[in-house]
Amino acid sequence: MRALVMAGFVSAVMLVSDVASAQDAVARGQQLYAAQKCSMCHQVAGKGNKLSVLDGIGAKLTADQIREWLVDPVAAAKKANSTKKPLMPKTYAKLPPADVDALVVYMQSLK
Ligand code: HEC
Repeated sequence: MRALVMAGFVSAVMLVSDVASAQDAVARGQQLYAAQKCSMCHQVAGKGNKLSVLDGIGAKLTADQIREWLVDPVAAAKKANSTKKPLMPKTYAKLPPADVDALVVYMQSLK
């Protein structure tokens, strides 16, 4: 009985921390978006460059597609038949993997 109660408690705590860490990742991604100057070429909620509007991108692309834009923009542009210039900087591939993850999570939150 006691073990059951403990198990229930542990999974409830895990659920809460999952939700909290998902929100943290979105917030972290949003900070990185600002720090990496994505808005020089992209617009979100009316702010930034109209060259490429990212509102709704989370519904348009999968997480893997978003990741590819970040780590291999040349390949992503080819697949998307995109000819828009200037292309994404290739430097994002050198970001720590956790930062790329956070940017992907933030992009996915734009539905
Ligand atoms: C120097 C300009 C530039 C910068 C800076 C830039 N991008 Fe891009 N990005 C582009 C271009 C150009 C495209 C292709 C857009 C198209 O074809 O509609 C693109 C495409 C994308 C796409 C796919 C868009 C779509 O409609 O399918 C995502 C997601 C994206 N960028 C995210 C980011 C994020 C996140 C950052 C910052 C870490 C960033 N970009 C910084 C130029 C840039």
